[in-house]
Amino acid sequence: NAMNLDLKEKILQLKKERNAIILAHYYQRAELQEVADYIGDSFGLAKQAAETDADVILFCGVHFMGESAKILSPDKIVLIPDERAGCPMADMVNAEGLKELKAKHPNAEVVAYVNTSAAVKAETDICCTSSNAVKVIQSVDAEEIIWVPDRNLGHYVSQFTDKKMIIWEGYCNTHDKVTAADVESIKAKYPEAPIVVHPECRPEVVELADHVASTAGILKYCRESDAQEFIIGTECGIEYMLKKENPDKKFHFITNVLVCPNMKVNNLKKAYRALETMEPQIQVDQEISNKARRSLERMLEVQ
Ligand code: 13P
Ligand code: SF4
Repeated sequence: NAMNLDLKEKILQLKKERNAIILAHYYQRAELQEVADYIGDSFGLAKQAAETDADVILFCGVHFMGESAKILSPDKIVLIPDERAGCPMADMVNAEGLKELKAKHPNAEVVAYVNTSAAVKAETDICCTSSNAVKVIQSVDAEEIIWVPDRNLGHYVSQFTDKKMIIWEGYCNTHDKVTAADVESIKAKYPEAPIVVHPECRPEVVELADHVASTAGILKYCRESDAQEFIIGTECGIEYMLKKENPDKKFHFITNVLVCPNMKVNNLKKAYRALETMEPQIQVDQEISNKARRSLERMLEVQ
């Protein structure tokens, strides 16, 4: 519509003036993906944030992603359209809880999913995302691993290692809602369609899938597959890019509850206001940031 067009032009103008880059996650509203310089999964976004030479990063995603950008690029201004865009899963573990668990398992290395606060990352040996979790686990030189916070991703990666994994009981409110019965019922409707799911889904759902991958991995699979229809088990925001990349293919989401309300808190208007006012900015305590940076950088080094 006309108002959005106007806002988009203003955003592009401000972006130039501020020497800003706009990063957006695949779950963001289409209107934000449309103005982004780079759209990606958690791993791709962290990498971009670490490598950009812009002065300002407008991070269209949830809070922990903006925090990671700030930790990796401490001298840059990191804006988020709305600071209330949080991640309930990231809030399921705090630094105190993790420290207690570490005290019980002094020889374990801590692997934290990037869906965690900066304070948790500061207590972590190495971070991972859903796209590199298996590689990260295999790179760890310890017999015992403390894994936070996603029990579903933890269960998934535990199948690829002989190491003992101590898995935190966190989960994603959005992905964890999908059940095996939901998968069976949509499979009955589209029996030919491959089932492609995110590893934040429950083990019973992952077991029924033809392919398990991060958001970028789901997109790659659908691009490269000869199939014309797919059953998708991840947040609905990905539909924008699935359709853009595959205008002739069909995508059926397992259920209509695959919506992350936190991701949707950001919108075009708030993105514009953030660039205009240079608020809200993501700040991370210096000491926490320095400690957390090591675990993120270690992740970026894993090939
Ligand atoms: P990825 O983009 O890394 O697949 O992560 C999904 C997610 O839940 C981000 O909040
Ligand atoms: Fe957090 Fe799940 Fe939303 Fe990702 S989709 S931000 S893991 S609640």
